[in-house]
Amino acid sequence: MRLILMGPPGAGKGTQAKVIAGRLGVPAISTGDIFRANVSQQTPLGVEAKRYMDAGEYVPDTITNGMVRDRIAEDDARQGFLLDGYPRTVAQVEELDAMLTEQSASIDAVVVLTVDQDEIVQRLLKRAETEGRADDTEDVIRHRQDVYTEQTAPLIEVYAARGVLTEVDGMGAVEEVTARVFTALEATGAAAG
Ligand code: AP5
Repeated sequence: MRLILMGPPGAGKGTQAKVIAGRLGVPAISTGDIFRANVSQQTPLGVEAKRYMDAGEYVPDTITNGMVRDRIAEDDARQGFLLDGYPRTVAQVEELDAMLTEQSASIDAVVVLTVDQDEIVQRLLKRAETEGRADDTEDVIRHRQDVYTEQTAPLIEVYAARGVLTEVDGMGAVEEVTARVFTALEATGAAAG
């Protein structure tokens, strides 16, 4: 099973990715988490990525694509994976297509979580209080939403045209959202009931 989880910042991608991937027995691969691990370890990649992340901008494809290419080539991802936060641009879609072609693999489903704008802002401001993520300030949250709308939302059309897209209501309790995702995956035939 090769899945992509999409949705605006705060939609619950990271939260759902861990649960869904656990149930499917595949690794959850979050580009945001990999970048944050590099930032906290102050690796050269982390130092470079931090400039963009703190401003709510996307890290350049030259850095991001190579990182994903290496990660999905690891043994635990050979039989499947759940991508959280990648691809985010049309150029990243093309790059992922090329990586999958090399592996004679393809994406089974793309799940888009939809959440009201007000709820998103509430979730991220709450996280700002508890975790203090550098990109969870009100201005940067707003900018991240704009970047998503401009650069990532167009991917919904791309995957819809391929017949692999399914939209899931991301409002409500975490467990309710997870249940909706599995119902949607079962309906598309991507996951067994
Ligand atoms: P990333 O870490 O992916 O950030 P994001 O997309 O802005 O997403 P968030 O982590 O804010 O939200 P989420 O949808 O994962 O929701 P979460 O589950 O955390 O990326 C960070 C940065 O890295 C980017 O801005 C960019 O700079 C860079 N980057 C990453 N990928 C890149 C790429 N492909 N190309 C270029 N640059 C890239 O939930 C949010 C909060 O809500 C949490 O506190 C959670 O506990 C809470 N919550 C979750 N679900 C619920 C629920 N159902 N009810 C109530 N609260 C909930």
